[in-house]
Amino acid sequence: MAWRSADRAATKVHMTIDIDHVADATPDLREAMLDRLREAVPEAFVDGKLDVVNLASLAGEATDTAAERYGLTWPGKREAIAMLQAPTRATLAPDRAESTNFDKAEHVFIEGENLEVLKVLHRSYQGRVKLIYIDPPYNTGKDFIYPDDFADPLDRYLRITGQKDAAGDLLTSLPERSGRFHSNWLSMMYPRLSHARQLLREDGFIVVSIDDAEQANLVRLMDEVFGEENRVAVLVYDRNRKNDAKLFSVGHEYMVVYARNKAWLKESGVKLRAPKEGVEEVRAEFDRLRDIHGSDWTKIRADLISYYNTFEDEDPRLPLARFNKVDEKGPYRDDGDVSWPGGGGPRYRISHPVTRKPVKQSVRGWLYPTRKRFIEMCAAGRIVFGPDEKTVPAIRSNLFEADTQVMHSVTFSYAQTATQQFNAIFDNKKVFDNPKSYADLERLVRYLSEPGDIVLDFFAGSNTTLHGVLRANIGERTPRRGIAVQMAEPIEAGSESGNNALALGLKTLADVSRERIRRVLAEAEHKNTGANVRCFKIAASNTQRWKGVQERTVEAYQAQLDAFMDTLTPGWKVEDVIWEVALREGYSLTSRVEPVAVPGGGTFHRVTDPERGWSFMIGLDDALTFEQVRSLGLSRDDLFVCRDTALDDTLAANLALQCRLKVI
Ligand SMILES: C[S@@+](CC[C@H](N)C(=O)[O-])C[C@H]1O[C@@H](n2cnc3c(N)ncnc32)[C@H](O)[C@@H]1O
Repeated sequence: MAWRSADRAATKVHMTIDIDHVADATPDLREAMLDRLREAVPEAFVDGKLDVVNLASLAGEATDTAAERYGLTWPGKREAIAMLQAPTRATLAPDRAESTNFDKAEHVFIEGENLEVLKVLHRSYQGRVKLIYIDPPYNTGKDFIYPDDFADPLDRYLRITGQKDAAGDLLTSLPERSGRFHSNWLSMMYPRLSHARQLLREDGFIVVSIDDAEQANLVRLMDEVFGEENRVAVLVYDRNRKNDAKLFSVGHEYMVVYARNKAWLKESGVKLRAPKEGVEEVRAEFDRLRDIHGSDWTKIRADLISYYNTFEDEDPRLPLARFNKVDEKGPYRDDGDVSWPGGGGPRYRISHPVTRKPVKQSVRGWLYPTRKRFIEMCAAGRIVFGPDEKTVPAIRSNLFEADTQVMHSVTFSYAQTATQQFNAIFDNKKVFDNPKSYADLERLVRYLSEPGDIVLDFFAGSNTTLHGVLRANIGERTPRRGIAVQMAEPIEAGSESGNNALALGLKTLADVSRERIRRVLAEAEHKNTGANVRCFKIAASNTQRWKGVQERTVEAYQAQLDAFMDTLTPGWKVEDVIWEVALREGYSLTSRVEPVAVPGGGTFHRVTDPERGWSFMIGLDDALTFEQVRSLGLSRDDLFVCRDTALDDTLAANLALQCRLKVI
């Protein structure tokens, strides 16, 4: 891009040199999408414009030109798409005071409106997030649905959260009888889900909690955004029984799971497995009994069965009680069916190991396709024979060898337990209503992500997901990295949770969210992991944009030009500008910023992103000298960013030849 732009024609011009500008807004996604399409199918463009009928026929799809079409539509969908595509000039400002150890932290908390934040994160995290979990407002008629504002999204957010003068009177719930009840919710969700999809890795997953109010709409919407072929499961979480219900006690909610690319997961042979619940506890009990009884298997078995008898009726560990025999390999069961499921399986001769006579076969044929495989299983100790050939053999499974399983689609997880566990973090005081269970989130995070992966929640609420990530990291060498986004929704006095939160000095839900994580990080088990969180807040850009003049007079233009000699806003802070540049250049929020000493003591910094292996230098002084620039030792591939006003023509020419120069 030429250094000289129309807006800034009157500012200083380095005549013949092309110097790039640091972008002053997030990319225009619509343009980027059209560019990709133009590149892939140039024939679909007629006279420079996309011709959808052409595109469909090139793709071999019949175009439905009739008024009636299959699909999800609602009043306001067009505006929702416009919201999704509109670039933002917002940025994120570091908030050291709220962080636990800003410079060392691997987890990130962002206070801000999530659509704006998702746009800001786009360049840095596109295609990098392994798991997104969100628990958006369920649209029950009592919750707050964020009213997006196309004209000035950041301004709307600052007004709503009371950070600007005007009254926060927009912060009301949406009553069910109001028009556009479902439409407003869909319009709110659509752009956020669409951005979420762009952040996911090819092997990534998104999980969305919801209840009956919008479950059906959510699935249709996600079918549209993620593709029906990428729907993985609709999980049911039984949260409680409502005995006062008039018709049915509907006490469950859902988690809707989509993959970014399910076909890819299939091709790659991905199999998800979770540890069987309670196996570690049985292992501890087995080790204890071994210490007491040595190799007296009769006594160990008797005590193990007594231990199993302590499991209550709805205890998820109950299936483990079937492993009620024991030897040096631990508890086992030997009643597995060795016949072909459904019948018609292979038939071959197997001899009894003692009588040497052919054993009785199951009427359904053997489970293993060949005799060779059967004999291998015998050699591995997996087949148990009866006293003679008259009994059909059975399969043996050892509890400690088969200690993982695929996750069930139904989970019993009582809301009351989740609330009690959450309250315990705040000295048994309720400061937030209806938190999710951190144990459920820990299980989900373990199931759908690996150590080192990025996990994002942009409706963080009380920050249950980050808590789950921290728990899943215990004992891991490489931590999963959590990113949480929560707006500064003001807390109102009047409710039990509101009064308790305000008494602790927590004025917004973002305060509750941060305070929860600080408290969790101070617990011994987390302290040992050395985990930390760095906090950011959404903020207006540090750069000014040419606004034009009210009066078309020479004086008015001159005054504007003077004000725009420096593109940075009055009162800008070095660290804020560095982070804005880093984000516009696509650096991770866990990047390191270190001062670099130069002759004459200027404020130069090196920004390094260890996650991407990138770095750049930035100097924000009013004027730069040759000595300073030389001392940086910049080479052709190095990116160096400085203020436009700090360069004279000679220095600009030198720098542009020496490195990748960008100006603000
Ligand atoms: C249902 S709660 C999430 C609860 C969370 N799962 C937990 O366990 O605490 C949804 C949260 O999203 C927040 N929220 C709603 N709209 C938002 C927006 N546009 N940007 C950021 N946060 C938003 C609300 O303030 C609320 O705290």
